[in-house]
Amino acid sequence: MIHGGTTLRGEVEISGAKNAAVAIIPAALMVDGVCVIENMPQISDTEMLLTILRELGARIRFLNRSTVEIDCRNVCMQDAPYDLMRKIRASYYLIGAMLGRFGHAKTTMPGGCNFGVRPIDQHIKGMNALGADVDVKAGFVYADARDGKLHGARIYLDKVSVGATMNIILAATLAQGRTIIENAAREPHIVDLANFLNSMGADIRGAGTDTVKVNGVEKLHGGSYAIIPDQIEAGTYMVAAAATGGEVLIKNVIPRHLECISAKLRETGTIVLENGDTVLVKGASSLRKINVKTLPYPGFPTDMQPPMCALLCVAGGTSVITEGVYDNRFKYVNELRKMGAEIQVDGRVAVVEGGHRLSGAPVMACDLRAGAAMVIAGMCASGTTVVEDVRFIERGYENFVGKLNALGADIHIVDEREESDGRDKILTMIG
Ligand code: EPZ
Repeated sequence: MIHGGTTLRGEVEISGAKNAAVAIIPAALMVDGVCVIENMPQISDTEMLLTILRELGARIRFLNRSTVEIDCRNVCMQDAPYDLMRKIRASYYLIGAMLGRFGHAKTTMPGGCNFGVRPIDQHIKGMNALGADVDVKAGFVYADARDGKLHGARIYLDKVSVGATMNIILAATLAQGRTIIENAAREPHIVDLANFLNSMGADIRGAGTDTVKVNGVEKLHGGSYAIIPDQIEAGTYMVAAAATGGEVLIKNVIPRHLECISAKLRETGTIVLENGDTVLVKGASSLRKINVKTLPYPGFPTDMQPPMCALLCVAGGTSVITEGVYDNRFKYVNELRKMGAEIQVDGRVAVVEGGHRLSGAPVMACDLRAGAAMVIAGMCASGTTVVEDVRFIERGYENFVGKLNALGADIHIVDEREESDGRDKILTMIG
């Protein structure tokens, strides 16, 4: 429940990157030793993956709130928790990690946010090229290295894919010989996965460029690693500060990862000042319209598209948003319309008529980033907004309500025990 009309002021600390963590946890499966991973975000996606590893026999121990020790030396494959795998998209990384470690894998088809078809054909193309037979049937993915071991290969990705790039890096790490991935995605979390693996003894070069080279090694040894700060969490707080006309110091960031977000916010008239590992965002008294197109990194991130749309609803003038990555990532627009937003959507283009106040309403969180967008809209709106299905938000934002309330927001998580219609319970924590 969000009481609107608040201006965010103060400081917020960014947690570890979700989309790095959800690949690094499966990568720990391949390490013949103990990994100590710092800056692990406390979100349900990482908790889910750590639970999956534990059910596979890994020893998992939290040394403090954000440092986890993982020992996968006694992991074996039988009775994997498929019900958990089905819930998150990142479970596909278990294919690459299991193939790398055992020479075979069985996972479920990935779950995750529903905005259009999200195939894994490029993942399968990569695994086939490395010498694995992959079969998808009855909702499961089966992969087997034809002669028990994977072999390096040259792989050209038909589509720039974060998941496929990272999955192939995982599978190639312990393969025999050299793998070259061309037309690779360049996101910061791909570099983070490569750096993690290299610190455990892998030999991966070129991560962060469109050509990644992996020289397979015999084994990976234990070690420690700190996950990078979350680019999208940081961007979400930057947009929230700008949209509410506040002034927020965002700490523990890598400004280079935020360049595109900072640039687009400056176009709206927002002041963005980078200083070491912080970014100061000062909202303008009135925000200007802009045009945004989402693209793979270093373009404007698709995951920032819903939060930016919420901001543009309260900016002046007509803005155009083009979704360059997914087929159908505007479902949340219907929820913004319930709050008075005037947005026309045609396929991958949304035209936002800004310039008027939103009003609070009961809305749904369609997915993780859409949920964050609804909260931003609720803080800007007059009156009260109730966002349902906040479990989506908990998947990717550590302590979202706590961090926002510390900045002056007025948000409470309420519980609705309407068992009759079987609706998902909203978290019972009173914020
Ligand atoms: C990752 O998803 C992220 N998820 C997404 O973040 C993010 O939106 C996306 O990358 C793009 O940055 C995780 O890292 C767990 P893709 P992923 O493969 O790997 C198509 C969030 O909110 N495609 O780069 O699934 C695909 O349909 C989530 O944190 C194929 O056609 O994204 C999409 O149109 C949401 N075949 C495009 O490529 C494939 O084999 C990019 O997808 C794979 C992808």
